[in-house]
Amino acid sequence: MQKILFLFFVFTFISCTQQETETLSIPAEKLTFTEHIAPILYKNCVVCHRSDGIAPFSLITYKDVWRKKKTIVNVTQRGFMPPWPADPNYSHFVGERILTKEEKLMLKLWVKNGAKEGPAAALPKAPKFPNGSLLGTPDLTLYLDSVYLEAHGQDKFLTVKIPFSIGKDTFVKAVEFVPGMGNNVHHMNGHLLNYSPLKKANVFDGTRVANEQANNFDEQVLKLKLKNDDGSDPDRIHSAVNYLPGVYPVLYPAGIGGFKLSKIGAFVASDIHYGPSHKTMIDKSRINVFYAAKPPTRPTFELMLGTNGQSEIIPPLVVPPNRIITCRTKGIVPDDISVLTLNPHMHLLGTSFKAFGLTEQGDTIKLISIPRWDFRWQYFYTFQKPVKLPKGTTIIVEGVFDNTVNNPNNPNNPPKTVSDKRATMKTSDEMFQFIITWMPYKAGDESIILGK
Ligand code: HEC
Repeated sequence: MQKILFLFFVFTFISCTQQETETLSIPAEKLTFTEHIAPILYKNCVVCHRSDGIAPFSLITYKDVWRKKKTIVNVTQRGFMPPWPADPNYSHFVGERILTKEEKLMLKLWVKNGAKEGPAAALPKAPKFPNGSLLGTPDLTLYLDSVYLEAHGQDKFLTVKIPFSIGKDTFVKAVEFVPGMGNNVHHMNGHLLNYSPLKKANVFDGTRVANEQANNFDEQVLKLKLKNDDGSDPDRIHSAVNYLPGVYPVLYPAGIGGFKLSKIGAFVASDIHYGPSHKTMIDKSRINVFYAAKPPTRPTFELMLGTNGQSEIIPPLVVPPNRIITCRTKGIVPDDISVLTLNPHMHLLGTSFKAFGLTEQGDTIKLISIPRWDFRWQYFYTFQKPVKLPKGTTIIVEGVFDNTVNNPNNPNNPPKTVSDKRATMKTSDEMFQFIITWMPYKAGDESIILGK
């Protein structure tokens, strides 16, 4: 028996080494930073790992990379960096950042063979990241300068209202959030409230900032005076602007998407998350708005399943202490649709997430699978080309929630019952939500290129 095991190890060892030399087109000892490694890092890492990026150190020069070479090998082989939670064997999206097997192997073998620098002339230019807008020149810029943060040793979650008055109604094709605190803004998710001047006397009324941890949702709405004067709700465009480090705003091709912007309104950053900071500061973040001359020819819509959405969660999202539960939620597509963007959302107890369509004929259409949910990297995933869901397709969403001590992100120790019942969106409450941005299907949609 021992002999067989031994042979097995020898065999796998040989086959691994053979594979390593096989998959690389160049001998491992010829690998250099300037020729082979810098291109990998510039494409996949420096969007965050640069002097004013969100990662704690830069990976641009040979020296930067030399210092971190062992950790780089470790985190890339484990799949921890670059952060991209969606499984690329399940579905593909715009801006996907994943290392190929060959790239991972190159990093490993480069370090193993002495991490040589290589000829200076071969070094590609490091990509440039403009500080203002990534999309162009905005038509309207709104500032979040009412946010004043004392030095704080903890994460802060705020709801911030950014009101505006622009003279006349118009249309918008894109909205972009540009963080002003360098490393400090972790994420934001903003809605747009379009008011009618007949129903709202003054959008600038009310406070600008509410503390998410201290105020419940209803209190925030009151403090910020988000309702119409008669107590009714204004028109709301959900997720009109989002930000997550390392994610570029997506601009759909001309005519697709966009929405109305009333002459008076407000963006509401409903969960802007600031990391701990030892300096007192005023937020210099801004929202750039890009107008469209015409209303969209292909308006987009949102379907929200799960918490706060249009479908029931079964079993209800109440996770007892020391238990792992799987929740499901479903929605049926009433007409042929083209799916553009997906947004899976859970909080700290979430450990995996999966969504797919099941057609009336019983075919499966893969949407997204996140085998290891990571609360920190909640991307909006835009398909490279629209995905058609035929009329009658059932969208099935599955989420697993781990409320045991084995979940390192569990906010409670010892664990206690956590639910989405209050829907406060506080991190320590749970959520199970899936938002799909879609448009009515038209023949040929499958070949529209949304991005790469
Ligand atoms: C979307 C932003 C982003 C991208 C892209 C990214 N990183 Fe990171 N990286 C971070 C952040 C933020 C941290 C800090 C650790 C944390 O907070 O999880 C980090 C940490 C690290 C660490 C330190 C890990 C440790 O345990 O100390 C290494 C090494 C690293 N990244 C390498 C890379 C490499 C190599 C790539 C590209 C192949 C890459 N990163 C791509 C954001 C990014």
